[in-house]
Amino acid sequence: MNKFPISVTVNGTEYQREVEPRLLLCDFLRHELGLTGTHVGCEQGVCGSCTILFNGQAVRSCLMLAVQTNGQNLQTVEGLGTPDNMHPIQQAFHEAHGLQCGFCTPGFLMTLVPYLEQNQDPSEGEIRAALSGNICRCTGYQHIVEAVKLAAREMHKE
Ligand code: FES
Ligand code: FES
Repeated sequence: MNKFPISVTVNGTEYQREVEPRLLLCDFLRHELGLTGTHVGCEQGVCGSCTILFNGQAVRSCLMLAVQTNGQNLQTVEGLGTPDNMHPIQQAFHEAHGLQCGFCTPGFLMTLVPYLEQNQDPSEGEIRAALSGNICRCTGYQHIVEAVKLAAREMHKE
């Protein structure tokens, strides 16, 4: 199959690759770039575990093709923070016990980045609605909601 050249910026680094037009974005990130923090669950847009930022917007990388990212700017969970310097959302998930196995967590985090940048003080109902496209099989969601409240306070404190 023919391959197409793409140039894409991921977490501030520009990558140039040749990809088959059928290659899913999530597989490109994981297998071509080695960014395995983006997880793949359902591969049909339901679970949210593959969520990344595409030009600042949360998208499901299992529903996009790698060729669609040519010239675009992506962020994955690897670009969010480091163990020594966590993003406030990561810190809040850690402190509020917002994860157990962690499989779903990168998708939750990346969904929340643009949401919490735009929502300073979401109610519990608003948080649950914002996360309704992300499935977690471990936590029961309550600790995730608590983590989001904590992250919102930290991100928007004076
Ligand atoms: S793997 Fe993409 S939404 Fe489930
Ligand atoms: S922490 Fe295990 S699926 Fe969410």
